[in-house]
Amino acid sequence: MSSTPQHLIEADGLSMHYSIGARQVQVLRDVSLRIAAGTRVAIAGPSGSGKTSLLLLLSGLERPGAGSIRVDGVDLGSLSSDGLADLRRERVGIVFQSFHLLPSLSALDNAALPLQMAGASGAREAATQMLRRVGLGDRLHHRPSQLSGGEQQRVAIARALVHRPQLLLADEPTGNLDDHTAESVRELLFSLNRELGTTLVLVTHDLDFAARCDRVLRLHDGQLHETPVTRPAEIDDALLA
Ligand SMILES: Nc1ncnc2c1ncn2[C@@H]1O[C@H](COP(=O)(O)OP(=O)(O)OP(=O)(O)O)[C@@H](O)[C@H]1O
Ligand SMILES: [Mg+2]
Repeated sequence: MSSTPQHLIEADGLSMHYSIGARQVQVLRDVSLRIAAGTRVAIAGPSGSGKTSLLLLLSGLERPGAGSIRVDGVDLGSLSSDGLADLRRERVGIVFQSFHLLPSLSALDNAALPLQMAGASGAREAATQMLRRVGLGDRLHHRPSQLSGGEQQRVAIARALVHRPQLLLADEPTGNLDDHTAESVRELLFSLNRELGTTLVLVTHDLDFAARCDRVLRLHDGQLHETPVTRPAEIDDALLA
């Protein structure tokens, strides 16, 4: 019998460490979390607390030292690296903290890549449309080295969203943006969440952003804690509907 799992992400008992020579840096200790499909979750925590590491585990780009992760009912531990790559290509979008754009490709070709790799038709049209939505309609043919940091970040966001993923994992997606552009990126992410039911897991230090999410989880000393969402009065509940 197949059934849609109630939680898009189910992670249990995750531990992770990095080894540097004989030394081990323990980053996550026995972390468990459930994220319901279609929700918006902010991950907060000090620098070095393991936020990026947690996103790498949830995307299957790193494997945990212990514990298990299910994404939409699929046990990541049971997949080969090709299987994990397929899962990401079909269902997951990732915005990396350092963008990871291909330097030799234009903004348009970078943003079209996930659809092209999936052999989908209309990749360049969809990428153009997504780049316009992030305000880069006039930068389509620039290579990353010809773009500002905030513009590169927006290309990375367009690339992560071009295949309309079920799950978006974004590492400080508004970290390098001015207030106005940050607001348009927030609007874009929330509108995709509303229109397509995209589940958002966002690492962010942006309090406005966190305040508009359904949940805020804080990493500290390798553990994840649910914290109350502090919603400034000026954020109208209607915007969150
Ligand atoms: N490849 C690596 N090898 C060894 N240690 C690493 C590696 N990547 C990260 N670390 C260490 O693991 C810890 C968690 O790193 P991580 O990048 O997950 O933190 P973060 O919460 O994302 O920080 P920031 O807010 O600065 O981006 C840090 O102490 C970091 O020094
Ligand atoms: Mg980080």
